[in-house]
Amino acid sequence: MTDPTNERKIEHIRAIERDPETDRHGHWFDRILLTNRALPELALDEIDPSTDFLGKRLSFPLLVSSMTGGDHELVRTINTNLAIAAERCQVAMAVGSQRVMFTHPAAEASFALREHAPSTVLIGNVGGVQLNYGFDLDQCRRAVDILAADALYFHLNPLQEAVQPEGDTDFRGIADRIGEVGRQLGVPVLLKEVGAGLSAADIALGLSQGIQYFDLAGSGGTSWSRIEHHRRHDGSDIGLRFQDWGLPTPLALQQAAPFLDRATLIASGGLRDGIDMVKSVILGASLCGMAAPLLQPAMESAEAVVAVIERLRREFITAMFLLGTPDMSALFRNRALIVQER
Ligand SMILES: Cc1cc2nc3c(=O)[nH]c(=O)nc-3n(C[C@H](O)[C@H](O)[C@H](O)COP(=O)(O)O)c2cc1C
Repeated sequence: MTDPTNERKIEHIRAIERDPETDRHGHWFDRILLTNRALPELALDEIDPSTDFLGKRLSFPLLVSSMTGGDHELVRTINTNLAIAAERCQVAMAVGSQRVMFTHPAAEASFALREHAPSTVLIGNVGGVQLNYGFDLDQCRRAVDILAADALYFHLNPLQEAVQPEGDTDFRGIADRIGEVGRQLGVPVLLKEVGAGLSAADIALGLSQGIQYFDLAGSGGTSWSRIEHHRRHDGSDIGLRFQDWGLPTPLALQQAAPFLDRATLIASGGLRDGIDMVKSVILGASLCGMAAPLLQPAMESAEAVVAVIERLRREFITAMFLLGTPDMSALFRNRALIVQER
């Protein structure tokens, strides 16, 4: 396999740095209004936001969403800082696409993160469509092993591939192939989009393949269509046309709600504070992912990432207090806390 994956990651990061509009500021969560308890009958200090995910205890339901990996000092720094911060704060972390390990073996070091995060949840990542382009079970196993991962994400990004100049766009039979790998891998498989959302039909298809974990990664935050626009030099504006395509994350959560007896949901895509996280849990998310808000701090230091995570935790606990919910079980799927959805 030859591909430009290693350089592309740096181009993506630079596009995000240069263009603040790659974050679409959809503010979809602002349309959900929650109640307020003037008599919460709780002490702020007794709120317990901890939760279990993949058999491990997290201090609150945050996932550092998939971002990087590769043979570059910058991405090694980003991943190391994210892993140190995730371990210190006891939150989950997923790595960016590991395909680059197989085209640039030196990239493996950027994914060997267990030494920095010995106890918390770490999740690997490969592109689902790559199973139609030479990727197989052995490579998925290698991706899990290098990270000593608790699970493996398959990211599904048909929009990104379709607007990318060199995109891999043959998605035929991918659900079957992921199901086949999932049955043999030995760790759970999760499906994710990258910012356009998983639909109810996608979840039904995933469930029929034995997959139980779905990261909706809806629209409203990072737009991969807009990022890819910056990598096109052929005069096409297709990436801009589709920059807001997709299911906004709160809507994707609502569409996925009928599957909650069989599916575990992760909310991501446009979550920007602890209040968005609380709303996601109310709508049925077991975990809440953020990517872009952690990118700049991760370029700086582990401490800068920890500061953002601590802010998010403080906001999450404050919202729980004001809703009169002492723990995650009082919050999860408790739609009575919503007073209005606009
Ligand atoms: C710099 C950057 C790189 C990303 N790389 C990947 C990737 O390699 N694999 C993947 O599944 N998602 C990737 N994503 C998508 C995120 O995991 C997430 O699904 C999406 O950005 C929505 O979250 P956000 O709005 O909080 O950024 C990346 C996001 C960013 C910001």
